[in-house]
Order: sequence, then structure tokens, then C-alpha cells
Amino acid sequence: MADNKLEKVCQFLRDAGTYYLATVEGDQPRGRPFGTVLAYDGKLYIQTGKAKSVSKQLAANPKAEICAFKDGVWLRVAGELVNDDDRAVKVAMLDQYPELKAMYDADDGNTQVLYFRSATAVFSSFTAPPETFMLD
Ligand SMILES: Cc1cc2nc3c(=O)[nH]c(=O)nc-3n(C[C@H](O)[C@H](O)[C@H](O)COP(=O)(O)O)c2cc1C
Repeated sequence: MADNKLEKVCQFLRDAGTYYLATVEGDQPRGRPFGTVLAYDGKLYIQTGKAKSVSKQLAANPKAEICAFKDGVWLRVAGELVNDDDRAVKVAMLDQYPELKAMYDADDGNTQVLYFRSATAVFSSFTAPPETFMLD
């Protein structure tokens, strides 16, 4: 994904503050609020803990969708969330959200960062045609 498009998606999610991450457990959709987002090495990353149900669901089935809404525009990013054990990304994520350092450490065996693969980002509103970006 071109950096400016990745940055646009990332900035929207940051400005929205909260997005909702949907995963799949068997045939049951699961959703929850999330906030972490990082553009790193041309990819869109999120952060969680390996101990969480969300992490286990993604390990079993990486298909995921996130949705956020701000100022009349909603964004959906749909694709696969892939685990990345690169310590440098974990450090960059925790540096972006220093408040997480009370709960997470790059070397704690729990901190997890995942990036979107084969994903599509769509900005929608009631007043303009959808704008679609492919993430690699
Ligand atoms: C505003 C908000 C933002 C959150 N952001 C994150 C996040 O980025 N990563 C994370 O792992 N949990 C985050 N949480 C906590 C998760 O929503 C919570 O742990 C949830 O239960 C995880 O889903 P699960 O129970 O299916 O594992 C956030 C919670 C709130 C209220």
C-alpha cells in the first residue's frame, strides 16, 4: 500500500480513537473495542495480548475486519491479521502507546503485534461514493 494511503487509514483510526475489531470463532462473529494502530514497514499493525481470546481466535482463523466511525465517515478494513514476532515492531508499538508499558513489554511473551495482509480498506459515507484502497 502506498505510504500516503496507509497513513490516511492509520490517521483516521487514530483520530477516531476507538475502532471495533471483529474476528470469527467457529461460526460466531466476535467484536470488541480496540485502539492501537501503527504504520510500520508499509503495513498496518495492531496490538494485543497472546493470552486474550481475540488472539486465539486469530490464530485459528486470521480473517478479521475493523470498523471505525468519525465525522460522518466510516472505515472498514477487512483481510487477514498476521502475527509478527519481530521485536522492533513491538518496541515501536509500545513507544507509540507508552501507557501500555504498564501492562506490556516487548519481551514478556504476551505482547503481540499483527499486521493486515490481503486487506481492503473502504471509506464510506452517506454523501460520497466509497473510496477503496488495497493493502498488500
Ligand atoms: C477504548 C478501548 C480500546 C482498547 N484497545 C485495545 C487494543 O488496542 N488492544 C487490546 O488487546 N485490547 C484493547 N482493549 C481491550 C479489549 O477490548 C478487551 O480486552 C477485549 O475483551 C478483548 O477481546 P476478547 O475478550 O475477545 O479477547 C480496548 C478497550 C477499550 C475500551
